[in-house]
Amino acid sequence: MKKYTIITLLAMGIAGSAVMTSCKGKNDPGTIYMPDMTYSRAVETYAPLDSLLFTADYNTPGAKIYYNRKTVAGTIQRGELFPYTLPNDSNGYRMSAQVKNPLPPLSGVDSLEASRLFNINCAICHGANGQATGPLAVSGKVGGIANLALPIYVEMADGTMYHTIQYGKNNMGSYASQLNRKERWQMVQYIRTLQPKAAGAAAGTSAAPTAKADSSATAKTK
Ligand code: HEC
Repeated sequence: MKKYTIITLLAMGIAGSAVMTSCKGKNDPGTIYMPDMTYSRAVETYAPLDSLLFTADYNTPGAKIYYNRKTVAGTIQRGELFPYTLPNDSNGYRMSAQVKNPLPPLSGVDSLEASRLFNINCAICHGANGQATGPLAVSGKVGGIANLALPIYVEMADGTMYHTIQYGKNNMGSYASQLNRKERWQMVQYIRTLQPKAAGAAAGTSAAPTAKADSSATAKTK
């Protein structure tokens, strides 16, 4: 038994030295089987990410390390929007009307992204046109869905819309965990593009409620 142990130990020694000597250079890590161990996740704060090693896109195929640059709780990134500090209560809701949208006008890639995010997160209720024509509105599964083309929403302050997107309101949930601050403000901007312009508001909204009333009526009779 002892003999076998000695032989095994010897064999392991030889194998071990073979592995050691097979290294190409002092700094070559050899085959990387645990990238987290080889490449430190400690990233320099403002340095650009090494795109060969890291990816911030979870869907990127390949053996890159996913690193989303999330900041420590209580801190904000350089260039990031300041936190929205109004509380989630009736006072906060009232004061939200004073909060200005911090973003420049929506354009280019941002418009496309905003439209994508609205269609994923909001259209199921509000409809792609914002007029409460989404499947959950038509089926009657969720009640009281706002027709965002109505004058009350055309006149609603950006800050109030933002407040509701951040905290939710009645049957609408909070989108604070699905959309970041910039994206939440972009939703407000995108809703503006769906709304009839103030001058044409009467024409745009007189048709919308009728269409909605029709669809909910048919939904109820089913
Ligand atoms: C589950 C269905 C549902 C989804 C999904 C939904 N909403 Fe709503 N939304 C509602 C309902 C219901 C209301 C009416 C709330 C009330 O006043 O009672 C509403 C109201 C609103 C209002 C008016 C806010 C106010 O203060 O009266 C805005 C703006 C709005 N939604 C934007 C959005 C955006 C942007 C998204 C996507 C990020 C979204 N909603 C997703 C159901 C939804």
